[in-house]
Amino acid sequence: MKKVLMVCLGNICRSPLAQGILESKVNPGEVEVDSAGTGAYHVGELPDPRSIEVAHKYGIDLTNQRARQFKVSDYDDFDLIYVMDESNRNNVLQLARNESDRNKVHRILDEIDPNANLEVPDPYFGGDSGFEHVYQLLNDACDRITRRL
Ligand code: 4NP
Repeated sequence: MKKVLMVCLGNICRSPLAQGILESKVNPGEVEVDSAGTGAYHVGELPDPRSIEVAHKYGIDLTNQRARQFKVSDYDDFDLIYVMDESNRNNVLQLARNESDRNKVHRILDEIDPNANLEVPDPYFGGDSGFEHVYQLLNDACDRITRRL
């Protein structure tokens, strides 16, 4: 069983979408996917309604997800940790205990272009079009992750 964790800031917009998209592409007997936020602002909440809506448009249900905060033991529980942006990456790496922990952390859009340091833009304060764009970026990245797992 391969275990993959998607991480953003609030765990209500980007990482729940990344979790739902990757779950839709993998065999649940082979790959387990979860998500978390580096911040605690939204712990216990459903994903943002705009993430739920764009996922629903593509046949993916996010309503069984609840936000939680990233914790050090996630380094023990997951094989791969994908972050959405540089700020998430710094926050997650601050909790790493050793090189093995650090090696688990990857920028999710490095799957699309490993040299460009691309970020998944935070759509929280933007309009609905931001969520469609985020969906397309994450869908592309998750297709590539699926081929690699
Ligand atoms: P996310 O978006 O990191 O993609 O879940 C955000 C959601 C909430 C906040 C920031 C980003 N916030 O500051 O409350």
